[in-house]
Amino acid sequence: METTKNDRNAWLKGGSSQCKIPAHPQIHPHRLVLLGAPGVGKGTQAELLSARLGACHLSTGDIFRAAKSLNDCERTPTMTRALEYMRRGDLVPDEIVLGLVTERSKCLRCGGGFLLDGFPRTVAQAQALQDCLVENQIRLDAVLSYDLPLEHVVSRLSGRRTCPTCKAVYHVDTRPPKMKGICDACGTALYQREDDRPESVRVRMDVYEKSTSPLTDFYRRNDLLVSISAAGTPEEIFDRSIFALKKRQYRT
Ligand code: AP5
Repeated sequence: METTKNDRNAWLKGGSSQCKIPAHPQIHPHRLVLLGAPGVGKGTQAELLSARLGACHLSTGDIFRAAKSLNDCERTPTMTRALEYMRRGDLVPDEIVLGLVTERSKCLRCGGGFLLDGFPRTVAQAQALQDCLVENQIRLDAVLSYDLPLEHVVSRLSGRRTCPTCKAVYHVDTRPPKMKGICDACGTALYQREDDRPESVRVRMDVYEKSTSPLTDFYRRNDLLVSISAAGTPEEIFDRSIFALKKRQYRT
């Protein structure tokens, strides 16, 4: 079902912020985590899945990028510290990330459901998410884990261009905008993310291997892991994701 795009204001800004365009409540809201290396295409799939399933795309990376556009007096010292980690390609410390997610726990209770992208990223974060969901009596449906050889992932990252306004994601070769450098959806000039520079990408890949890849075992043990090949076009991967979700639904 095609739905009006939720503006994710409550997630991006936190505190008492509300979504100006709230998600449509779903009869059976989908609650999913998207896992995979930086640049594998989680954000691209989250957008496609969100349009189909009506669930909100909740990316922790987007919270940090939204804070980046604030001026110095609007940004808290904790957020300024978080952005330094991000710039280097390092993980932001768990206590900062968990503080931000806890402050936004109403988004996990949203009647539209959620697609968590970039969170959790460490076993401690996964454990904290599990505790938070239990506390709120919410069940995770599945963890979609996207797999792709490293060299393909790096080329996806180096060609990525992002819209600072509506957060739409493009690729100079595989998903170019209609007009070079301009967002199709809102007409804003696209930019290249600072952490897509080769030196930050190297750090991100190492950190992923060390801290985030153990999460596949964590979720396999919890019978939530669904592995999906991230080779091919975004639409092919999307079809695989929907197929895998349906298969899982009929299993129970
Ligand atoms: P975050 O924003 O989460 O970045 P990431 O996980 O590194 O993932 P990316 O957004 O880089 O990639 P993606 O998988 O979404 O790929 P995309 O769809 O854009 O985090 C950034 C930073 O924030 C972290 O490094 C860390 O510092 C901090 N952070 C965030 N969360 C944190 C947490 N929980 N704990 C600690 N720190 C945290 O696709 C990539 C490109 O490929 C695009 O150009 C796209 O158009 C193209 N593409 C997509 N699919 C395909 C396809 N099938 N074929 C060809 N091209 C494709």
